[in-house]
Amino acid sequence: MRFAHVVVALTLVAISHAAMMGLDLGSDFIKIAAPKNNNIDIVLNEQSHRKTDNYVGFRGDERYFAADAKSLAPRFPDNMFTYVNQLVGVPFNNSEALTRYSALWRQKATVVEASKPTIDPNETETKSLGTVGLRTGANPSITYTAETLQGMLFGYLRSLVKKDTGSRVRDATVTVPAAFSVRQRQALIDAASLTGVNVVGTVHATTAIALQYGMKRNGFGNQTFRLMIVDVGATHIDVGVYEFSPPKQPVKGKRSKKAEALGFMDTKAIVSDLTVGGRAMDSCLAELIENRFVAATKLPRVLPGDSLQKRKAVIALMRAANKAKEVLSANKAANVVAEGMAPNKDFPTTITREEFETECAPMFQKAMNVVEQAIAEAGVKMQDLDAVELSGGASRVPKLIDDLTALRGAPVDRTVNADEAAAIGAAFYGGVANGRFRVPSFSIRESLFTALRGIDTVAFAMSPKTEKDTLQYRTLFGEASRIGQLKSVTVNRTANFNITVAHNVSGEMTTDYIVKITGVDSGLRSVKYYESDGELGELSTVLNHPNNSHTIRVEFRASESGLVVVESAELRINYMQNVTRQNKVNLTDEELEEETNKTRAS
Ligand SMILES: Nc1ncnc2c1ncn2[C@@H]1O[C@H](COP(=O)(O)OP(=O)(O)OP(=O)(O)O)[C@@H](O)[C@H]1O
Ligand SMILES: [Mg+2]
Repeated sequence: MRFAHVVVALTLVAISHAAMMGLDLGSDFIKIAAPKNNNIDIVLNEQSHRKTDNYVGFRGDERYFAADAKSLAPRFPDNMFTYVNQLVGVPFNNSEALTRYSALWRQKATVVEASKPTIDPNETETKSLGTVGLRTGANPSITYTAETLQGMLFGYLRSLVKKDTGSRVRDATVTVPAAFSVRQRQALIDAASLTGVNVVGTVHATTAIALQYGMKRNGFGNQTFRLMIVDVGATHIDVGVYEFSPPKQPVKGKRSKKAEALGFMDTKAIVSDLTVGGRAMDSCLAELIENRFVAATKLPRVLPGDSLQKRKAVIALMRAANKAKEVLSANKAANVVAEGMAPNKDFPTTITREEFETECAPMFQKAMNVVEQAIAEAGVKMQDLDAVELSGGASRVPKLIDDLTALRGAPVDRTVNADEAAAIGAAFYGGVANGRFRVPSFSIRESLFTALRGIDTVAFAMSPKTEKDTLQYRTLFGEASRIGQLKSVTVNRTANFNITVAHNVSGEMTTDYIVKITGVDSGLRSVKYYESDGELGELSTVLNHPNNSHTIRVEFRASESGLVVVESAELRINYMQNVTRQNKVNLTDEELEEETNKTRAS
């Protein structure tokens, strides 16, 4: 431990003071890391706490955030929102995601299809955005999109950094669960931009933790080091397996690049389960308490909170269960009181650790299945791992620690800060990649495109040639795709065209953006390409000739942030000015090829 502190102190001396924050955007608690006192440290919130409740809400014209909103939630459940990050970028027709959101909240969520805000009060027709909106009890005529609410939260987080560190931050690196789809990542970035937060990268939380682990140790010398990160937060478990390997021998006379100075960090696997987590534990404990309440009082159940009164009781019941779970991490039994289970009726009960473990046994089993799957995918054995680290608040639950110890056949290592490592790792991830923090780091090779696995695939479709034709989608990045991989689409049309990039979410196509190619119809004099409204570039100015042929190639890249971006585009012309048989305009493909070769040779 002492060794680790010495290394950190040495590492951080070299940090430049550019403002950039790392946000661990947890569903229960948001943790912020930013440059502070010549260090990268956790930002304190208004209550001087190191983690901030993920809440936003409204009363009248007032906006409430974090602890203020959370404390008002039991009285005003319609006005205070949490887990909004789970809805950002979710299509309204994705019933699976909406069911999951209600299951997390344990309430009937009043979600509606989001529509474009209407500026003209006389305008009655609404335009659907196809995403999720939340209606507030504060003013039922107002619907907030999940992205707007998330944007407000980003702005609030930025204000916390200003208050604590005195610096204005604009740039952020944000953690995402491995199961977040590409569309969710993009929507998060767009939401941040609503309040001026520029997301320079998204990073898987386990990857950020692994990076922080390796940097804190200043690398592993000439050793190959295998690390497992088990992150159990409120809403999911992510298990990542990482391999650190030594830096390449520096070429004589050349200094190694900072980003590779400590060597390489390869992501071998990340496996998730969205039904394991602290909230799922609270849920099964809440059911246990409610069953006892119903047996003892013969009064009706409060779950699943389908009236205002019951929603208030559900919030109180879930909080009682949450408290019991946390007490049981340090004690063999917990006394809890579920308030307001019926009007003016509180229900006290005692839960033992054994009862908790029996009640939630299927969930604990699922957690170990995820660990075994990650091991299998990484192609290693539990015994091959040099360290098994736990992270996330719910990783403090003794049953998880015991099961993992049994699976490993040795005690697990618990040296990372379960709450803070992801935020600090995220700050380093973005800071080093952007050249802001001049500290020795690793070259990260995250080759698995886990964002796409089983969640969605990215497809593209050419604009139809005639009005009658419909869009035909073909896969651009499928399940086996890797981060950093390039895929190109080659087209030889003579009219302007569009390439629609979309996500296949459970068979439904939702458009992300459209790449428009213009100038083809005017003799290729000025071919330009646009992504939605922003111009990307100009391809070339050429003289056309009836015998010339051309192809336009657009290259897409699966970026490190798990997004699909336009990497480049080019126009290739096969010049045919030297063709002697000028009377023959329509050459066959073979003749064209032959003439092209001749032209090239001449
Ligand atoms: N001592 C403890 N014992 C058991 N559970 C705990 C303890 N401390 C915190 N937790 C639980 O950890 C969870 C929050 O963990 P964390 O802050 O890692 O989640 P998050 O990052 O907000 O969520 P997610 O990563 O799922 O988006 C809550 O369910 C909380 O009750
Ligand atoms: Mg988390």
